[in-house]
Order: sequence, then structure tokens, then C-alpha cells
Amino acid sequence: MKIIFATNNQGKMDEIKAILMDTNIDLLSLKDAGIDIDIEETGRSFEENAIIKAETICKLTGEIVLADDSGLEVDYLDKAPGIYSSRFLGENTSYLEKNNYIIDQLKKAKKDERSARFVCTIACSFPNEDTITRTGILEGFIAEQISGFNGFGYDPIFYLPQYNCTTADMPTKLKNQISHRAKALTAIKEVLVSRMININALERYNEGIDSE
Ligand code: IMP
Repeated sequence: MKIIFATNNQGKMDEIKAILMDTNIDLLSLKDAGIDIDIEETGRSFEENAIIKAETICKLTGEIVLADDSGLEVDYLDKAPGIYSSRFLGENTSYLEKNNYIIDQLKKAKKDERSARFVCTIACSFPNEDTITRTGILEGFIAEQISGFNGFGYDPIFYLPQYNCTTADMPTKLKNQISHRAKALTAIKEVLVSRMININALERYNEGIDSE
């Protein structure tokens, strides 16, 4: 079964391919599918943005399409940067600056006020049918200082007490197993697999009728 993942981010492609490895899904990136499009994220939530992306590409291609939207919510900052995570403080501001800004804003915050979470919603749009979504959350805290070189974005300030390190300190393989994206992907995979079983059963049933 062919499915398009509405991204050109190789890291995300590798992560999702690893999770879907034991299925017979043939996953294509936008580039693999020959699509060059910039979709504006005009939604007011991770879910709305993921749906906009998945449905736009699904209508364009007629294929099953997955799309994600993710970000960091910091409770002390009223859940900012949230859906604006990549645009926070301006498109051209480096993550070193974004991360230092957040640490600075939380200078006076006590330990229990430093809670934060990575959120990822994945939408799956089925041609001429419905669009479903699943959300994965990784709860943690904003570190008092930047630490680690792995990962990307806000990883150097996202501290997980159970591992006593930031997500930038952990091996990528471990982060990809516990991440918000992994949780959302695993939940979407369950839906895809059960729909595939239904589609295969229907095809076998129809083939049976045709050969009668
Ligand atoms: P998008 O889902 O690709 O639009 O990513 C949104 C933004 O959220 C990223 O550019 C990062 O700033 C942030 N983000 C999402 N997931 C992670 C993560 O696993 N680590 C660090 N930052 C993340």
C-alpha cells in the first residue's frame, strides 16, 4: 500500500519508516511523490494544522496521506511557543537564541513551575473518506541550562527527570523510541494496519465474486 508522508524532512522520514518497517506500506516523501508545495499552517491547534496539510495533499494526489504538526508547550509561558514553535521569535532566529530566551524567561520559575511538553499530532487523510488524527505527548521540564548536541530545535532545554538528561543528551535511537512523534506514529499505525486488513479482506472477497 502506497502512503505519502507530507514532509521533506529526512529525519522524520527515517523515524516513521522505522516504525512502519513491519508493514507492507510503501512510504513516499513529498519529493518522492514529485510534489513541490508550500502549505500555509493557518490552523489554531496542532490538530488543525496536521489536518490542513494531510487533506491538501490527499485532494491533490488521491493517495492516503499522513501529515504531522508538533511543538513545545511551556506552562510558565502560557503554553508558548506551541504551534508557533518553529516561527517563535521570528523565522530567522536561531535555536540557540530561542532556547536561551526561554531559559531566561524561566529564571525565576521554581522546579515545579518548569513543566513543559512536546506534542505531536499526526493526521491521516483517506481519499474520498475521512481524516483521522492521533496525538502523542512527551512530558518534561525546562532545564536551567542548555545541554546536549543530539536532536534538534528545543531538545537542548527539554529535561526528562527519569533519564536525568535533556533529549539532546540522549542517543537519537532512544529519543525516537520515547518521543511524542513515536507515540503518535504508533497510534496511527494501529489504525492503518486495521484498515489495511479490512481493505485486503474486501479485495479478496471481490476477487472471489469476480471468479465465480
Ligand atoms: P514541525 O512539526 O516540523 O512544524 O516542527 C515544529 C517545531 O517544533 C520544530 O521546528 C521544533 O522547533 C519543535 N519540535 C518539534 N518536535 C521537536 C523535538 O522532538 N525536539 C525539539 N524540538 C521539536
